[in-house]
Amino acid sequence: MRTVSVIKADVGSNAGHLRPTPELVAAVEDVLADEGAFLDDYFVFTVGDDVDIVMSHTRGEDDDEVHRLAWDAFEAGTEVAKEQGLYGAGQDLLEDAFAGNVRGLGPGVCELTFEEREAEPFLVFGADKTEPGAFNQPLYTAFADPRYTTGLLLKDTIHEGFTFQVMDLEHTDDGERRIQLDVPEDGWDLTALLMEPHRFGIEKIYSRATGAEVAAVSTQKLRNVAGEYVGKDDPVALVRTQADFPSPGEVLQPYATPPFVAGAMRGSHHGVFYPIESGAGEIPSYFDGPPLVKAIGMVLNDGEFSEPVYPFDASFWDSVREDAATRFREFRERQGAFGPGTVETSELEYGGWTDIMASLEDRWTVASEQSPSATDD
Ligand code: 13P
Ligand code: 13P
Ligand code: MG
Ligand code: MG
Ligand code: MG
Ligand code: MG
Ligand code: MG
Repeated sequence: MRTVSVIKADVGSNAGHLRPTPELVAAVEDVLADEGAFLDDYFVFTVGDDVDIVMSHTRGEDDDEVHRLAWDAFEAGTEVAKEQGLYGAGQDLLEDAFAGNVRGLGPGVCELTFEEREAEPFLVFGADKTEPGAFNQPLYTAFADPRYTTGLLLKDTIHEGFTFQVMDLEHTDDGERRIQLDVPEDGWDLTALLMEPHRFGIEKIYSRATGAEVAAVSTQKLRNVAGEYVGKDDPVALVRTQADFPSPGEVLQPYATPPFVAGAMRGSHHGVFYPIESGAGEIPSYFDGPPLVKAIGMVLNDGEFSEPVYPFDASFWDSVREDAATRFREFRERQGAFGPGTVETSELEYGGWTDIMASLEDRWTVASEQSPSATDD
């Protein structure tokens, strides 16, 4: 069986949460080149200030060596970030030492394990300045909504539907909590979960026709791992496409009607999920947003990655970007801090608002305690 693992971290950036330097990325790549001989292939890309490593191997998911390699690569990137005085050096590496698996240590991870098909096309998505639930709406639309993915109506194996594995991202008391729901039968219940993207995130999607793993999303919420805000989660996703699965076009289509997602400035606002080109100019340059998503298409051939293609480079997406930028500015500049301009107060990533509320506690007056009137007794 083949496994594709995507492991990502922000280990420092130029100009403050905008983009890593080429030297930082080269340091990450050097470790993979020097120590990654046991991999069949690897590929490194960046989105905003995040470095995303894609690895092909046959060691299965949660493998100690694969995760350790990514950790070592991010540590090397951190060293360069320190040397260069970059902002947030080592930001997402929350522990001093690697311990078996990057889950719980800060980096985000998603992995898919499958028998490589004769042709194995797939898409990798990397996001910056947002949370794992940002992928809820695009993946739901692609895998569960026949108004969009007409493959659900036209192709027998796709018509059999998909199993969504959803994680409760806030359930930390007695271990991780997940649920599997089948579409179409459980479609409304699935919608009920996914409508709350801060709490419920898609972790995996399986084909019901074949049982194969089709899609995976990193579900780590950094705030819960660290116990405080150290940066937004900036999730990654993998989606196998074609044949028994939705096509690249069906998986990409939902990004043309991008939803509002949590993130942007200080991880605490709503912004439009903005599909970016591959070029280095695409950075979160307006109010630490908009929340960015990059898509990369490849095929696996006997474990090796093809040249990447960047679907959102196509001129079609220029009009989507223009519309998304207009919607984000309209919303942000009209709304300001008020109401949905910021996330719900329970989701704010900084403690300042709670401190203000505490500092005001003594200054409230309650009507019954004010100048009691003579008739009160
Ligand atoms: P990152 O997670 O991308 O570092 O974002 C941090 C932040 O709060 C930017 O406003
Ligand atoms: P969410 O978009 O996070 O649900 O919050 C905005 C809001 O206030 C919805 O009523
Ligand atoms: Mg950062
Ligand atoms: Mg980031
Ligand atoms: Mg981050
Ligand atoms: Mg053709
Ligand atoms: Mg082949």
